[in-house]
Amino acid sequence: MESTTIYPGEVFTDTKFFDTGIRQLVPYYDQMLEAIAACIPHDARRLLELGCGTGELSLKLLKRCPDAHLVAMDYSPRMIKIAQSKLIEAQLNNRVTLIQADFGAWANEEINEQIKTDFDGCFSSLAIHHLDNQMKQNLFNCIRNNLSNGGCFWNADPIIQESEQLQESYLKLREKWTQTQGKTIADVRSLIGNSQPQGYSGQDRLATLDTHLSMLKLAGFKSVAVPWRFFGLAIFGGWV
Ligand SMILES: C[S@@+](CC[C@H](N)C(=O)[O-])C[C@H]1O[C@@H](n2cnc3c(N)ncnc32)[C@H](O)[C@@H]1O
Repeated sequence: MESTTIYPGEVFTDTKFFDTGIRQLVPYYDQMLEAIAACIPHDARRLLELGCGTGELSLKLLKRCPDAHLVAMDYSPRMIKIAQSKLIEAQLNNRVTLIQADFGAWANEEINEQIKTDFDGCFSSLAIHHLDNQMKQNLFNCIRNNLSNGGCFWNADPIIQESEQLQESYLKLREKWTQTQGKTIADVRSLIGNSQPQGYSGQDRLATLDTHLSMLKLAGFKSVAVPWRFFGLAIFGGWV
């Protein structure tokens, strides 16, 4: 039987399972998205999201900032379709421009869509770790150049931890987390799809927190911070 291949970051063979499955797989997923949305002031007006997936963070950002317009990018037509229907259902679609594009291509100025600059905030969750380190740097440079003075960038992503012991503890905690959701890790893994490299994204290409913070500084972020962390998952970013 032919197996379905998916894009890196889509995670599950059946995209409709993403919102349930990601909550079973990623500890404190909702808390993490609430935390990243809380990093932007309520009065922000221009927001950019990279790798919006099914729109879970998009919805939180739009609720957090009632006067904001959000430009949300993702290369997967399947994920964008789900995001769009959720935004319509929440009657928030008039405040969003969904763009189907590769954020690596955006960083390298290879896409045709005109994306306005001067964003007050740029956000991403569980997506940028699919780029290699050189492309992460290119993307951070591009984000920096598209933020207004005082603007901020926050990324929630898996990271390489500082020791094997921490990593072992994290893997055990992840298993426990999945069990508290009424599933075994094997149950959830059986629904994960087989992804092939797509555009600038490939299998997980994690970096340490220190590497990410150095890249942000090299890109020209004036100050950097880590507002949230749970073992191998962190929100990091900074201000320009
Ligand atoms: C694990 S999902 C996370 C979605 C959403 N941010 C969330 O936290 O629920 C990662 C998303 O990033 C998208 N993605 C991965 N690499 C991308 C790239 N190079 N350009 C655009 N989208 C990408 C995938 O299509 C997927 O929708």
